[in-house]
Amino acid sequence: MTLSLRFLMHSNEPRRSNATRPARAKQHPARRAPASDLPWELVSTSHQHTTRLGQAIGRVLRGGETIALYGPLGAGKTALVRGIAVGLNASPAAVTSPTFVVIHEYQGRLPLVHVDLYRIRSPRELESIGLIEYFSGQTVTAIEWADKGLVALPQDRIEIALYHRAARSRTIELNVTGPKSHEILALARRQYSKAAREHRAATEA
Ligand SMILES: Nc1ncnc2c1ncn2[C@@H]1O[C@H](COP(=O)(O)OP(=O)(O)OP(=O)(O)O)[C@@H](O)[C@H]1O
Ligand SMILES: [Mg+2]
Repeated sequence: MTLSLRFLMHSNEPRRSNATRPARAKQHPARRAPASDLPWELVSTSHQHTTRLGQAIGRVLRGGETIALYGPLGAGKTALVRGIAVGLNASPAAVTSPTFVVIHEYQGRLPLVHVDLYRIRSPRELESIGLIEYFSGQTVTAIEWADKGLVALPQDRIEIALYHRAARSRTIELNVTGPKSHEILALARRQYSKAAREHRAATEA
């Protein structure tokens, strides 16, 4: 269920193509602080597969987590957030790729805030959307184009980068920047493996 929407005044422009995107930082944020068993890298072979990964993450969230999402247009960031919503028992149909809207809020087992920073152009705009208000309490925050808001993000976060491999295939790299997120990602990994085994058994039956 969508609880509230926030709009930016200039957000009625079409999305730019990848070609006009700012260059990626040389060292990806997800690679900054690898723990021993990280980064966790996997290949998704369909958008449903990516959604299942999101679902495994959503199921183990405890509240207050920040999930920073990186990757180009169409990489599957929104598909992953849709899965997180499913895992939190929020309505997945409501999770869309926001064209005009910068922040969506959904209510599930925990409150989920879905942010898209694609159109953020300056620190002042970043401040104007009030992102920081969400980084407290039980709210789970999933942020697309997180590289545009790094200065405002909490220190301890799950970082997920998605890259195109082929039409239906994506490389997904998951990492953490703090102990709380490390614990959650370890749980998510176990949950994902269990769900993958169940999925294989169901499709082979
Ligand atoms: N393995 C996959 N995982 C995720 N999406 C996939 C995959 N294969 C194909 N797709 C398709 O790629 C598109 C991903 O769209 P999505 O809106 O999730 O991307 P995005 O990263 O959020 O893009 P944007 O930066 O525009 O918000 C969808 O059309 C989806 O069907
Ligand atoms: Mg999106």
